[in-house]
Amino acid sequence: MKTLPAFILAAAFVSPLAQAQTGLLFKGADLALGEKLIAEHKCTACHARKVGGDGSAMYKPKGKVNTAGLLRGMVDYCSTELNMGLFPEEVTAVAAVLDRDHYRFESKPAARPEPKR
Ligand code: HEC
Repeated sequence: MKTLPAFILAAAFVSPLAQAQTGLLFKGADLALGEKLIAEHKCTACHARKVGGDGSAMYKPKGKVNTAGLLRGMVDYCSTELNMGLFPEEVTAVAAVLDRDHYRFESKPAARPEPKR
């Protein structure tokens, strides 16, 4: 089995802390920006070439990318590898859209009500 790059794993360890401080990782992410970036960078077109269909089979919520932190780490990794040069908030925005549309780590409708503070 292939192992994940260390910095993705690091992100998975760091993110629960970040989540504890700020709530959900993708809360407040700019979804419109994320959608625009996904279209601009032809993410789906390349994935579709690899897995066929509309490319969404590439996103495997039960695969090795199985937490919000790992998802964001994977987008960061792709951005770096493919020289997309995304800013951190853009990486978060892209990951948030993938979460909303495919992974649903944080976007489970009605499953997790906002904690009252
Ligand atoms: C040039 C082709 C290509 C482009 C462009 C591309 N990807 Fe990928 N992506 C891949 C391949 C190949 C994999 C599978 C890697 C693996 O499983 O080791 C992958 C895997 C992923 C995964 C992990 C899926 C999972 O659940 O295991 C995510 C998330 C992802 N890509 C996001 C993106 C995003 C977001 C973009 C655009 C900003 C993007 N990719 C652009 C080729 C591409």
